Amino acid sequence: MSETFRRFLRTLPDFPADLPGFDPDKSPQDPVLLFKQWLDEALAAGEPQPHACSLATVGRGSGGGQQPSSRMLILKNIDDDGWHFATSRTSRKGRELGANPYAALNFYWPSLGRQVRVLGPVTELSAEASSTDWAERPRADGSENPDWQLYAIRPEEIEFWQASHDGSHIRHRLGADGARLD
Ligand SMILES: Cc1cc2nc3c(=O)[nH]c(=O)nc-3n(C[C@H](O)[C@H](O)[C@H](O)COP(=O)(O)O)c2cc1C
Repeated sequence: MSETFRRFLRTLPDFPADLPGFDPDKSPQDPVLLFKQWLDEALAAGEPQPHACSLATVGRGSGGGQQPSSRMLILKNIDDDGWHFATSRTSRKGRELGANPYAALNFYWPSLGRQVRVLGPVTELSAEASSTDWAERPRADGSENPDWQLYAIRPEEIEFWQASHDGSHIRHRLGADGARLD
């Protein structure tokens, strides 16, 4: 059974035949501008939720050691505070961020073979900004949620990754000051 499944996984599609190029030297040097360009291109390529990403946090496992967990969520904004997302402070991720305010985001746009990774410390944004975010949810019903919290990751590292069919995938890593890491 596991051998059948292993072989089945090998038959699944790889990256699409047509992949865009990526020359970091000819792209916006500001990572936020480059991210916005890639987001626009993902939307144009038909990605239905290009602003969805995974959020990884670290908590404590039952043995007391560090235990990572991840889940999908929606990017809400990018500004001087960082990359915004929102969730309940009482959720697992909310509790983990309360105890250990560091996180990583990962965006993946399969139709373009592109990934963007962001990691850094997380801060809580204001109660006012959090309640505005809650009120602007697509199915908002006029309710209030005092546990709803808007957070911002301030990137210490951002990585732009472009798949290539010749196997020479392009990895463009930037530090907090926008300087290239490699
Ligand atoms: C595409 C997508 C977007 C989501 N967006 C959010 C979000 O913005 N905020 C949120 O709290 N949960 C969001 N969720 C649900 C989370 O993935 C998760 O199931 C939930 O928040 C509980 O996670 P936790 O128990 O690890 O805290 C989203 C799920 C999906 C699949």
